[in-house]
Amino acid sequence: MNDTQTHSHRFALTTPLYYVNGLPHIGSAYTTIAADAIARFARLQGKSVLLITGTDEHGQKIQRAAEAAGRSPQERCDEIAGKFQELWQQLNIQYDRFSRTTAPRHEAIVRAFFQRVWDRGDIYLGQQQGWYCVACEEFKEKRDLLEGNRCPLHPNQEAEWRDERNYFFRLSKYQTQLETLYEKQPDFIQPDIRRNEVVSFVKRGLQDFSISRVNLDWGFPVPTDPEHTLYVWFDALLGYVTALLDPDEEPTLENALSKWWPINLHLIGKDILRFHAVYWPAMLMSAELPLPQRVFGHGFLTKDGQKMSKTLGNIIDPVELTSQYGADAVRYYFLKATEFGQDGDFNQTRFINTLNADLANDLGNLLNRTLKMAYKYCGGKVPQANPDDDCPLKMLGASLGERVAAAYENLAFDRACEEILVLVRAGNKFLDDRAPWTLYKKGEQAEVEGVLYAVLESVRLAAYLLSAIVPGLSTAIYQQLGFSSVDFVGVASGQENCPSELQNRAPYATHSAWGTLPSGELLGNPSPIFLRLDLPEEP
Ligand code: MSP
Repeated sequence: MNDTQTHSHRFALTTPLYYVNGLPHIGSAYTTIAADAIARFARLQGKSVLLITGTDEHGQKIQRAAEAAGRSPQERCDEIAGKFQELWQQLNIQYDRFSRTTAPRHEAIVRAFFQRVWDRGDIYLGQQQGWYCVACEEFKEKRDLLEGNRCPLHPNQEAEWRDERNYFFRLSKYQTQLETLYEKQPDFIQPDIRRNEVVSFVKRGLQDFSISRVNLDWGFPVPTDPEHTLYVWFDALLGYVTALLDPDEEPTLENALSKWWPINLHLIGKDILRFHAVYWPAMLMSAELPLPQRVFGHGFLTKDGQKMSKTLGNIIDPVELTSQYGADAVRYYFLKATEFGQDGDFNQTRFINTLNADLANDLGNLLNRTLKMAYKYCGGKVPQANPDDDCPLKMLGASLGERVAAAYENLAFDRACEEILVLVRAGNKFLDDRAPWTLYKKGEQAEVEGVLYAVLESVRLAAYLLSAIVPGLSTAIYQQLGFSSVDFVGVASGQENCPSELQNRAPYATHSAWGTLPSGELLGNPSPIFLRLDLPEEP
């Protein structure tokens, strides 16, 4: 393979590096679930994937939170970083790298990067005056603050007045280059609404921003002037670069950038768009490095239509939700119930209704009743497909893989689920219409087998294409269909028995196509894959 081929085969993506001032919240879980679904689907397609997540551990906000908890900052960071890792395990997130910005290797990368930008003459000492929101770790324009100098994103905290010597990054120098980037590469920022926000922000004229703090210890010292501490965002964004190093590799920029750079996708929430779509590319331009391919800013989640906040007491705890309902339920709801990119809402009744309708009824029931019929009418083996059958399921299923792949590519998870459910619902209707129980009584065995095969194959295809979103459920389905050990990427022992024309293809081509289920093989034991959930009782 030449270098271009290897590169097009690689896919590196990131979640934000989460602040460790408190326990993980549902917003962090949301971004990470989406990133994991993208990563899993890319792995299915045979790409070599690097999913990066991690924690952002420096700055005033973390320092203060640690003090308030009566702990040293490092102890507190270690503890909370561990909580993130536990949650990712609970949610079945297959991340490849967990980048922590307090790691010593990260400091080496930050110093090397700082030096490059310094050598370009893009860092200078100046006077910073302004209102600082510690919760955002960002200076705010006076006109953007609410009454009493409160930040709109954190209205229960006052912004603090600062007047201090800081080092500045010459962002203004990159005004034209950034505008050209947004114009020449319209896909750089997605969705469009976010792109427009950024373009109009930049059009108003960029100001240099300060990249150091005084009176703050919790961070890396500025390499050229250790009296100053580096601004948390300057160090945090570089956490993405540090994450690219292999575990025991010497932490040089050259090593970090040699295999996976440029990153293909930064997945973030809309509140941190400016950092990723303006500051970050400008920093990289200054360091003369290639830019990431795309930045996608998703929307915010509310609870019952209201902003979540500790004060309102309406925070959703992702650990509790996942312990109660399981990873697949949580993953499915957040990706199916909201158009990714738009704001979304969590509502208990809708959560339960969605899961019952789609997973318990449409998908789960279909598998369960069809499997039972296959036991009754076909001796517990995968039925024989009807070769001349131009059945509606086959017609739908034949092009489903392509449509679903396009939806994943556009991060339209809701559309991917909906496309798949169209096939599943058609499977239910087909079964009712063809009534194999009647055909069986009439002795029409070939017909019975053809119908049951088409339905089971629909369920298999649905499970395969959903496996990036509900990996646990999809595995259970594949097992009940007789695949003994299932790893969707390498797919599945049992594949050697699938129809010969499909056998020599790559796993993705085989399993995203119609007709892979191997007739005559033993099926697994039918048991419900997703139990109906009860609505909570009215208080
Ligand atoms: N530390 C920075 C990121 C640095 S990346 C180099 C940070 N961390 S954060 O923990 O505050 O936020 C992480 C992510 O959670 C952001 O993408 C943010 O948009 C997302 N969310 C926070 N609250 C959210 C909701 N209510 N809904 C959806 N996502 C939300 O910012």
